[in-house]
Amino acid sequence: MWTDHHPGAALPELFATGGDTVSFAGGLPDLEALPLRTLSSQVSRLMGLGGRLTLQYTTTRVAPSLVPAIRDLMGREGASATSEQLVPTTGSQMGLLAVALGVGAPGDPVLLPTPAYPGAAAAFRTAGMEPRALPEDADGPDPAALYETVRTLRADGRNPRLLYCNPTFRNPTGATIPTPRRRELLAAAADLELLVVEDNPYGLLAFDGSTTPALHALDPERVIYLGTFSKVFAPGLRCGWIAAPEHLAPALRRTAEVMTLSPSALSQATIAAFHTRHGWDDLLDGYRTAYRERCALMADALDAELGPDGPWRFDRPDGGFYLWLRHRDGQDTERLTGPAAAIGVSFVPGSHFGVGREHAGALRLAFSNAPRRRIAEGVCRLAAALAATPAPPARGGDR
Ligand SMILES: Cc1ncc(COP(=O)(O)O)c(C=O)c1O
Repeated sequence: MWTDHHPGAALPELFATGGDTVSFAGGLPDLEALPLRTLSSQVSRLMGLGGRLTLQYTTTRVAPSLVPAIRDLMGREGASATSEQLVPTTGSQMGLLAVALGVGAPGDPVLLPTPAYPGAAAAFRTAGMEPRALPEDADGPDPAALYETVRTLRADGRNPRLLYCNPTFRNPTGATIPTPRRRELLAAAADLELLVVEDNPYGLLAFDGSTTPALHALDPERVIYLGTFSKVFAPGLRCGWIAAPEHLAPALRRTAEVMTLSPSALSQATIAAFHTRHGWDDLLDGYRTAYRERCALMADALDAELGPDGPWRFDRPDGGFYLWLRHRDGQDTERLTGPAAAIGVSFVPGSHFGVGREHAGALRLAFSNAPRRRIAEGVCRLAAALAATPAPPARGGDR
């Protein structure tokens, strides 16, 4: 069976909550900002007025009523897409698999700057592709290393055609690629005839409301953009989109159709109705405020507990959901999950974010959904677990 060769990550156990545990594991949004009463009356109106349509199968096009909501979000990072370029998805996870199946080819290497969202490598592997880690420097994926990696692979008879990037408030590091580096990367991708997959769930979640131009805004013909409502609205609706160069959209639409037949008309209509009435500004502001507060609580507690002279390092993120903690000498963080769970705190070890074990010496903390009043306590438990466990070396520590 396929699953015999592709064991799942042990994430469900890590994401277990309940009891007294403070979970910093799951990248869940904080849905306190969602106006549930308003939503519930909108859904009830949708049912009353057009229930037979919104509960019916629909086409493999993004619903026309949802297109302005998508264009509004993409426009905030300088990007745009026509209806012809849009393909509906159930979220970016499906978008990743649709791209891998529809544009990639089994056996192809696919380039990923790591640490990377584990669902990306899993989607590429599911499509028979071979994820390859791409070296980085302080600004992100290194164009010189991209040339080197692609040329070496091609000299070896391999043909990488896709470069995956989560360029803004990356899961798991929180890092953003600066605009000049984006331009350099896109120029290198053009030179090397690579398509770029831009996975962008967090781009509008800067704590100060600022934005960075999307890769898609800088080179729409080279970039397949994956958008999702999971982090700016709600993941339970399972609704997202692909904005593809026009010549690739039909193949992606066919692949999406095989995967789901059609998207949820009800989810699309719910989001469209919300956007028409309220726009995105207030909701985005609510989310940004919530994440800014939680991130500050977590970073301040980490500073206090781990101290400037200790072996653990992190950069304060400017947005998104995550904080990436690295051990100076590369402590293997997988071995810390048990002791941490025993004293009631959870996180995701760095090994989940590598192609191999290159990030085993780090760990990801999600502040996005941790209750504010328990963040300091959770960090205190984490510090105790980190201090109490001996430090066997792991490759890939302070990077
Ligand atoms: C970088 C990244 N890509 C894709 C996804 C999948 O999101 P969804 O399928 O809910 O849109 C996530 C979820 O956390 C993510 O962090």
